[in-house]
Amino acid sequence: MFPETRMRRLRRSEGLRRLARETVLTCGDLIQPLFVVPGDAREEPIASMPGVTRLSADLLEAWARDLKPPAVLVFGVPNEEAKDGTGSAALRADGLVPEAVRALKSARPDLVVITDVCLCGYTTHGHCGPVTESGEVDNDAAIELLARMAAAHAAAGADVVAPSAMMDGQVQAIREGLDCEGLRNTAIMSYAAKFASAFYGPFREAAHSAPSFGDRRSYQLPVANRREALRDALLDEDEGADWLMVKPAMPYLDVLAELRAESLLPIAAYHVSGEYAMIKYAAAQGVLDERKAALEAMLCIKRAGADAIITYYAQQVCEWLRNGEGG
Ligand code: PBG
Repeated sequence: MFPETRMRRLRRSEGLRRLARETVLTCGDLIQPLFVVPGDAREEPIASMPGVTRLSADLLEAWARDLKPPAVLVFGVPNEEAKDGTGSAALRADGLVPEAVRALKSARPDLVVITDVCLCGYTTHGHCGPVTESGEVDNDAAIELLARMAAAHAAAGADVVAPSAMMDGQVQAIREGLDCEGLRNTAIMSYAAKFASAFYGPFREAAHSAPSFGDRRSYQLPVANRREALRDALLDEDEGADWLMVKPAMPYLDVLAELRAESLLPIAAYHVSGEYAMIKYAAAQGVLDERKAALEAMLCIKRAGADAIITYYAQQVCEWLRNGEGG
């Protein structure tokens, strides 16, 4: 008790604070998302996400050579003409994402290439699976398509496939599909606790993947439910996931911390587009110090239990850390 105990003794200097530090953020913790578009020499800024662009595959070699984070999460953004009711363009062996994976791997064989596996960017209605006549998203039809999509990514050389559709049984279907094709070494990072969040708004502009009717509440997790999130995530572990993920990150750190205590798998957290935009726009208005706010967000996500963080800030954070601006 005070005055014998004084918490401030170990906070007196940078050296003392450093020695007592419990959590350290490194470039090696970060995963950079990447939006890939068809065509040549296309580099399109995304209005809702300042600093983020969509790139065509021919530009990826140069992009990958400059990339500092050790891993990338690839999203395909097809042209509107390529979309149909089932998202069939997502299954092609020569599709956008397989081509991007090959380009990234040939430029940087050491890069960990993770691919998003979901149909919403490829369907005309923008839902994460085919829609039945009664307007429901068809779970069991979706997981068969997702398994084929994942196999196409893995066959192109993806190290990890990351199913984000929140369909029941998707991890099991993907594992079986991969094993059946002899793709036994491809890992699955499951978007295990993915909530029906408003914070995906800017992403849906980036990926042209907003649902044309309704919303995603019949498949993504209810924002209010912690127990249900844990149950859903642990089911993915049973189905054979190698990695779990919690998404979004900052409003869901309670879920992340609890999942960390319940599972022995590595856990990633997705600092999503809306979380990125909040810092970017506040900084642009002079309301927040961008570097300090972004680094604090990342450090807190790690402290809560994330082994890796998917963030649009990944490259920028690596640059800050390398220049000694991490403090
Ligand atoms: C696809 C998908 C989404 C995100 C990642 N994969 C959007 C959604 O579910 O609507 C969101 C990522 C972000 O906001 O940064 N299902």
